[in-house]
Amino acid sequence: MILRRLALSLASALLLALEWQAWGLPATIRGTPHDLSALSSTEGPKATTEKQICVFCHTPHEAYGGSSLWNHRLSVVTQYTLPSGPTQLSTPTNPPDGSSKLCLSCHDGTVAIGSVLLASQSRNTTIPMIRTGPGGIMPGSPVPGLHAGPNLGTDLSGTHLISIAVNDLLIADKNRQFANNETSLRLAYPPPGDPVKLSRTGNVYKGAPGRDGRGIQCTTCHDPHDNTIGKFLVKPVTDAGQQSVPLQGGTLCETCHPPR
Ligand code: HEC
Ligand code: HEC
Ligand code: HEC
Ligand code: HEC
Repeated sequence: MILRRLALSLASALLLALEWQAWGLPATIRGTPHDLSALSSTEGPKATTEKQICVFCHTPHEAYGGSSLWNHRLSVVTQYTLPSGPTQLSTPTNPPDGSSKLCLSCHDGTVAIGSVLLASQSRNTTIPMIRTGPGGIMPGSPVPGLHAGPNLGTDLSGTHLISIAVNDLLIADKNRQFANNETSLRLAYPPPGDPVKLSRTGNVYKGAPGRDGRGIQCTTCHDPHDNTIGKFLVKPVTDAGQQSVPLQGGTLCETCHPPR
């Protein structure tokens, strides 16, 4: 009952936000690469006539089950190539769950960007777009093993681990590895209130769920509504010149991997 009420209040908060948008109040998403409306100033894909901003991702009405008011058609890819390394302890959920599944509905390059459940009173419709890749998908060719460019493809081996639970057991095991010089990375929870946040996942580590049911998803490092820092990152990565995520250092990474 409490859960249901919580779900309802989350849903009404989203509805309210969607209405604010309709009233034209400023939103951090406007003008960013995630503003896919016809009026957007983005240089990337955008709609030919659809003027709404939220519709590409959210619907105030019936939504895909389990994914809070989610409107974008989900990818049917069942197995992604995920990161793996000799000192990696986690076994990520495959296909990824939680918010990562939502991001991949556009960023794995298999579903048309305009493909939604509901728009302009039509069901299972595709909003006409310009500047997309062939068939309306994300433009650009994936670079397997690199976390770069908008079209990540289905080889996510160059991406940070996603859909992994983060709990006390993992943190203890990782820091034991570090103490034994088996890995160069320490591990810590992001501090309370930090822009870096753990997100919901059903993944487990050593049979136990993540603390508060949370772990790492795309939204741990990216906020799809706010491009203030660029690349929708929640915190800057100081060494941003390098292309491959595993090579980067800086404040984002150091939130959970404290410097030695
Ligand atoms: C490109 C996709 C995209 C667009 C466009 C988008 N959102 Fe979202 N939104 C998301 C994703 C993904 C989540 C889920 C985040 C999570 O689970 O952590 C989300 C979650 C939310 C939430 C729940 C709270 C939160 O931040 O987790 C609200 C409220 C919301 N969006 C409002 C809006 C409004 C209002 C608009 C239009 C101005 C909008 N969104 C446009 C992707 C989008
Ligand atoms: C409705 C489709 C859609 C969804 C869902 C979506 N994106 Fe995007 N995203 C786009 C498009 C389109 C672009 C721009 C591509 C281009 O410019 O060629 C983009 C660009 C980006 C960029 C690059 C921004 C830049 O400044 O270059 C990042 C990072 C990104 N998205 C992350 C995410 C994350 C993380 C999520 C989930 C929380 C998400 N996206 C969900 C469509 C989507
Ligand atoms: C541990 C943090 C982290 C996680 C988790 C993460 N990213 Fe990223 N992502 C980054 C960083 C940092 C960059 C910038 C790389 C650069 O500048 O070379 C980036 C870049 C990107 C880009 C390329 C932007 C461009 O134009 O080159 C996209 C798209 C993207 N991320 C989407 C996602 C999606 C989708 C997920 C989940 C499947 C995800 N990210 C998970 C940190 C992360
Ligand atoms: C929210 C916390 C968090 C953030 C932020 C974060 N990481 Fe991680 N990182 C983890 C966790 C948890 C693991 C999983 C450790 C394992 O399973 O062995 C991990 C694993 C890794 C690994 C593999 C380590 C190994 O021993 O196999 C690398 C490399 C890595 N992270 C680099 C980065 C980089 C680079 C960034 C910044 C772009 C970053 N991380 C940001 C939490 C984080």
